[in-house]
Amino acid sequence: MSSTLITNIGQLVTHDPELGILHDAALVYEDEKICWVGAKSTAPQADSRIDAEGGSVIPGFVDSHTHAIFAGDRLNDFLARMNGTRYASGGISTTVEATRNASEDELRSHLQNIISEFTGHGITTFEVKSGYGLDVETESRLLRIAREFTNETTFLGAHVVPSEFKEDRRAYIDLVKGEMLEAVAPYSKWIDVFCDNGAFSVEEAREIILAGQSKGLLGRLHGNQLGDTGGIELAVELGLASVDHCTFTTDHQLDLLSASSTVATLLPGAEFSTRSPFPDARRFYDHGVRVALATDCNPGSSFITSMPFVIALAVRDMFFTPEQALVAATKGGADALRRTDIGHLGIGARADIIILNTPSFEYIAYKPGSNLISRVIY
Ligand code: NIG
Ligand code: FE
Repeated sequence: MSSTLITNIGQLVTHDPELGILHDAALVYEDEKICWVGAKSTAPQADSRIDAEGGSVIPGFVDSHTHAIFAGDRLNDFLARMNGTRYASGGISTTVEATRNASEDELRSHLQNIISEFTGHGITTFEVKSGYGLDVETESRLLRIAREFTNETTFLGAHVVPSEFKEDRRAYIDLVKGEMLEAVAPYSKWIDVFCDNGAFSVEEAREIILAGQSKGLLGRLHGNQLGDTGGIELAVELGLASVDHCTFTTDHQLDLLSASSTVATLLPGAEFSTRSPFPDARRFYDHGVRVALATDCNPGSSFITSMPFVIALAVRDMFFTPEQALVAATKGGADALRRTDIGHLGIGARADIIILNTPSFEYIAYKPGSNLISRVIY
C-alpha cells in the first residue's frame, strides 16, 4: 500500500455531493482509491506528496462516446463541408475501406496515439466503439484491440450497411445479429446502433439491440443526430444507458428522457465539425434530463480528442453553465457508462484526477485552446 497527498489545492471539485467545491484543500489517495478529502491544514501524513501550487483539482474526464479505432482520415469531407456540403452518413464507407486495409499493428498504434491525446487532455476513462470494419473479421479485430486499452468497448456493427450488402440490407442485419455478434461478444461490453437517416431504422435498431442484450451486451444508441428519427423513444423503451447526439429533440422526448434512467449524451464536437445547429442544453436541464458530454472522436464528424475543448463548445454554443459542463464531462459520462467509481472524487472513488494550473475550473471554458492541465493522475 502506498499513499499520496495532493496539497495546496486552490479549488477542489469533488462532485460529492453536487459540485462539492472546497478551497485550500487537500486530498489523499492510497493505491488506486481516494481515502481522505478535507482542509489542507488538517491533512494526514502520506508516503508521497504532490503540490498543486494553488491550482484547481477536478475529477478525470469520462469520455463515454468515441469511435477512436480506425485508419485513414476524412480531411476531404471536412474541407467540402467547410465549402458548404452537408454531412451525411455515406462518408463512413471511406473509413471502412481504409480500416479493412490496415494491419493490426497500424490499427493498434493509431489507437495508441489517440489515447495519448485523450489522457493528455485529462480523459482518464474512455469508451471505444467499433463500426469501421463492418465484416466479421474486421469488427472482431477492432474490438479485440480496443479491449487491450479499455473495458468500455462497444460493438457498432450496425453503423451503416456496407456497400457489398447495399442490395440486401436484411442479409447484413442478420449477419450483425448472428455471426458477427457471436464473434465480437467476448470483447464487447456494449452494443450500439446508428439509428438515423441513411443508417438504421427504429425497427432495425430494436431488433439488433435486443439480439445484443440476449448475448449479455448492454445497449446504447446513436439517436436524433440528423433528424427527429425516433431514437430517443426507442432508447427509453428499451431502458438503454444512453442515447447519444440528441441534436434534434421535442419537448415530449425530453419529458420521456427525464422520466427514464437513460442519459442524453450531447456531442458538441459533431455540431462544430459538421457545422450543424447546436442543441440548447437549457431545454434538457429545464426538463430534468440527465446529461453527459463526450468527444465523439471519429474521423468523419468530430475529429476531436480534447474534453476541455468540448466543454468550451458546450458552454459557448449549447448554453451549459461551466458547472453543468464539468459535471456532464465527468459524472455525466460515468452515468452514461453506468459507473459509480469514476467521475467524482468522493471517498472510495478511483484516484483519476486532473490538476489544473488555473485558480478555477471555469477557465476551461474561459480560456479555450490553451493547455491548462499541469498533471493527470490515473
Ligand atoms: O457519431 N453518427 C454516427 N457515427 C459517427 C460519425 C461517423 C463518421 O462520420 O465516420 C458520429 O458522428
Ligand atoms: Fe458517434
